[in-house]
Amino acid sequence: MAKAKWLGHSCVLVTTEGANIIIDPFIKGNPQCPIQLERLPKIDVVLVTHGHADHLGDAIEICIAHDALLIGVYELCVYCQSKGVHKVHPMHIGGSAKFSFGVVKLTPALHGSAIAHPTMVYTGEACGFILVADGSTLYHAGDTALFGDMELIGERNKIDCAFIPIGDNFTMGIDDAVEATLMLHPKIVVPMHYDTFPVIKADPNEFARKLSDADKTIRCCILSPGDEVEY
Ligand code: NI
Ligand code: MN
Repeated sequence: MAKAKWLGHSCVLVTTEGANIIIDPFIKGNPQCPIQLERLPKIDVVLVTHGHADHLGDAIEICIAHDALLIGVYELCVYCQSKGVHKVHPMHIGGSAKFSFGVVKLTPALHGSAIAHPTMVYTGEACGFILVADGSTLYHAGDTALFGDMELIGERNKIDCAFIPIGDNFTMGIDDAVEATLMLHPKIVVPMHYDTFPVIKADPNEFARKLSDADKTIRCCILSPGDEVEY
């Protein structure tokens, strides 16, 4: 069993026996985040799905302060290295790698990836993550549109817990997120990437209702920022 604590938006803190892993650590600029950057537990690993500010967030600062390992696509890792991150493990979509805490695989995500300020810097492809640790499998979709290969991801991984964006505009909206969840068929699904900003306002209860109308075997966990699921 592992634990995943939602810190609002797409930020998830995963606690395993071997490591504290934070995904898309958008802390300081995240109006939903219930915890201050200085109050984070010791972070061993930082996973970043893409270069947009609401996902890269405070990753560089956390990696430097905690001497944490940054895992992401090659281009994003090179960028972070140039900003002072010492420990990086560059990967790319479709690749998996074994670490002391478990296995990480990069999945496709239909989305952009760049750092927009002060000038546009290309940071490779956006991705999602499959994280297998403590015998449990977590899927974090990152920012993405619905795509048919989610069916393959669901067939080839026994997903215990999936974090799926539902906020629309930049990612899947509710109806596409329901379709994605049916294809991925996780035991637990947690909606994310909604209500952080007015443009991605969405009702997670509508998502839960539509999912349950389509499939009653998948448990939808609507979390408040700071809440945790065991999976
Ligand atoms: Ni994005
Ligand atoms: Mn985003």
